[in-house]
Parts: sequence; C-alpha cells; structure tokens
Amino acid sequence: APADLSALIDGLVRDVEDFPKAGVTFKDITPLLDDHAAFTQVVQALAAAGRDASGQVVVDKVVGMEARGFILAAPVALALGVGFVPVRKPGKLPWETRSVDYDLEYGQETLQMHTDALTEGDRVLVIDDVLATGGTAAATATLVQQGGGVLHGLAVLMELSFLPGRAAIGDLPLTVLHVV
Ligand code: PRP
Repeated sequence: APADLSALIDGLVRDVEDFPKAGVTFKDITPLLDDHAAFTQVVQALAAAGRDASGQVVVDKVVGMEARGFILAAPVALALGVGFVPVRKPGKLPWETRSVDYDLEYGQETLQMHTDALTEGDRVLVIDDVLATGGTAAATATLVQQGGGVLHGLAVLMELSFLPGRAAIGDLPLTVLHVV
C-alpha cells in the first residue's frame, strides 16, 4: 500500500489507552470512518486486493467478520460488484450455520457462517479492520474452506506487527494498508 495512505490512516486512527481493559491500547477507527475521502480511499485500496493487475475483479464473494469488519467489507463488496457474506459470533445468524472454535489467550471463541453462504468454488476475499493474533482471520479462513470457498486473500486496514497474526494465517495472501 502507498506510504501516503498509510500516513493518512495513521492520522485518523485514535489510540485509546486501557480499553476495553487495563493495559490494552484500542485502535479506534471511528475518526477514519467519519472522513468521507479517507474512508473512500481505504475501501478502494482494500477492494484492489480483489482485482488482478489489469483491474479485473477476480473474486466472487467478500467475507467480513463481525462487527468492525462489516463496516469495511460491505462497501468493498459493493465496489467489486460481488456479494457480501457475514461471519458472526455464535447465535446471531438465523439460518443453518457452520461453526469454528478457536483459542484465545484466555478461553475460547466461536465464529459462524451460513452453510449456504458460498457456492462450491467461489473465490473469496476476506476483509477485516485489524489483524492482531490472527485467530479471527484463521477461523474465518477455515469457515470459507469448509463452505467450499477458495481463499483468494485477506485484506486488512491495520496489522499489529507485534502480534503473530501473519504466522497464524499461513500462506494466505495478505494485503495490509497500515502496519502498527
Ligand atoms: C477485533 C477486530 C478483528 C479481531 C482481530 O474484533 O475487529 O476482527 O479483533 O483480532 P485477532 O487477530 O486477535 O483475532 P473483536 O473481536 O474485538 O470484535 P468486534 O469487531 O465485534 O468488536
């Protein structure tokens, strides 16, 4: 991603100390979302991960993760002219779901996707706001594969490079707009 976009993002993401708990610095993207020009550039840069060098769209679906991932993934799907698929926390999706459990530092988390969300062979671009430990992204990648999708890549607004997110996603192609 271009250095000027990274700098733009840096200036519009607010660090909030001790949120949601002591010792954690929360990356608040609301100032970025509130800036139409910046939000537009971010969506276009993320959408580029779903195009080839000639600009041709090469994905069939965009998958986004609750909740902040939705805010970025839905406009990326619109920009690419493809469908959007939500991955949600347990008990939120109304239809038949598939679940993947993954470990957190303390405890476990579960993500779900509708069993009919993907068609066999769909090429999928996964979009989220932050790649941190990579647990969310890796679980989503598993859901996509179990649903018959072919992973095209993961594109995120921000990577927290002091956490092992990159290792957690293996060889899944990664696009990052801003590294922290
Ligand atoms: C945040 C963020 C990513 C995930 C990254 O979501 O939006 O989805 O954590 O962390 P990881 O790489 O360590 O899995 P969160 O679980 O806070 O959900 P929210 O967007 O609903 O607040």
